[in-house]
Amino acid sequence: LVTDVSLRKILDSRGNPTVEADVHTERSGFGRAAAPSGASTGEYEAVERPPGEAIAAAREHAVPRLVGNAYAGDQREIDAILRGADGTDDFSEIGANSAVAISMAAAKAASDVLGAPLFQHLGGTFRGENFPIPLGNVVGGGEHAADATDIQEFLSAPVGAPSVSEAVFANAAVHAAVADLLEERGHPSGKGDEGAWAPSIDDEAAFEIVAEAVELVSDDVGFEIGFGLDVAAAEMYDADSETYEYESEGISRDTDEQIEYIADLVREYDLVYVEDPLDENDYDAFAELTEEVGDRTLVCGDDLFVTNTERLTEGIDRGAANSILVKPNQIGTLTEAFDAIELATENGYDAVVSHRSGETEDTTIAHLAVATDAPFIKTGAVGGERTAKLNELIRIADDAT
Ligand code: PGA
Ligand code: ZN
Repeated sequence: LVTDVSLRKILDSRGNPTVEADVHTERSGFGRAAAPSGASTGEYEAVERPPGEAIAAAREHAVPRLVGNAYAGDQREIDAILRGADGTDDFSEIGANSAVAISMAAAKAASDVLGAPLFQHLGGTFRGENFPIPLGNVVGGGEHAADATDIQEFLSAPVGAPSVSEAVFANAAVHAAVADLLEERGHPSGKGDEGAWAPSIDDEAAFEIVAEAVELVSDDVGFEIGFGLDVAAAEMYDADSETYEYESEGISRDTDEQIEYIADLVREYDLVYVEDPLDENDYDAFAELTEEVGDRTLVCGDDLFVTNTERLTEGIDRGAANSILVKPNQIGTLTEAFDAIELATENGYDAVVSHRSGETEDTTIAHLAVATDAPFIKTGAVGGERTAKLNELIRIADDAT
């Protein structure tokens, strides 16, 4: 039984305040978790309220319904209470930030009482055999860095890695190789919000450098490292002119041109993964691109699906994308994130469990990925709030062997 829920403001990796929750239970169970925060947020995400307001509203509406009433081990009950206490469709009353922090903290409290790792509590006894492939952000711009690439993330995807540890180190090696190449070509660079290099170069130059870095490291480690993208195209889409605006290149593309551009990139760079290549409202364009390249690459919906089973159902019906990004704070509870992964898996969509650009040391997503046998996790390549998750994956794998 939950005996106490306390909420506080802590810092996230951008230096912004975010919500942290502590959940205490009978038999000395304790769980602590914090909400992440996006910069290139989708239009249909659950609502993040300013942390002070979210905390006050959750204290008033949610905490009294949980304390003395709910079992931390019954995640569906905890999350249903959060939904009921909020009373809206989008968590705009207590804030998705308060909701997700409490939801994740309750799961950790339950795993503490059980004396089992979080992934096992969430996924069951037989979980932990398969490990997600980490997608590592090595060059980035968009909303994550000023004066850098238009495409938000250039990702290293170590699809041939024999272990999660080798995959994590391969991504760090690609990140380092990119720095060397940038330096060599006269574009030494600082980092964006997710720890990726944020050089002031156009996308074409970034493609060349990342392709070369991936190949160099792949030769060195002896397994396949693929190349992936998060275009975050909703951020470049201008609904009035119905065009995608590439500012660093001074190019604008209409929807058909955008589909062809992405399909050409998939072929030229053998991309294994393309996230949000099109606007978040354009299921048809997603379907067209998926039809064209979906047999050779993962076309992933982030802002398109926002971890929402209704939006995913629409995508499945229309053949839009073939994978889904899963961010618990986009929907507000672990239950709903879990259900989105289940629905995706049942329909042949690969789940990619993901961090946000604003993060904390919280490691819940590493456990969620292992618990659900998600084939991928996207949580950066370097930087403390990113390595918190990557190192947790290494520890989970180490304990399992
Ligand atoms: P965000 O970006 O956390 O800033 O929304 C991450 C992503 O688009 O995948
Ligand atoms: Zn994205």
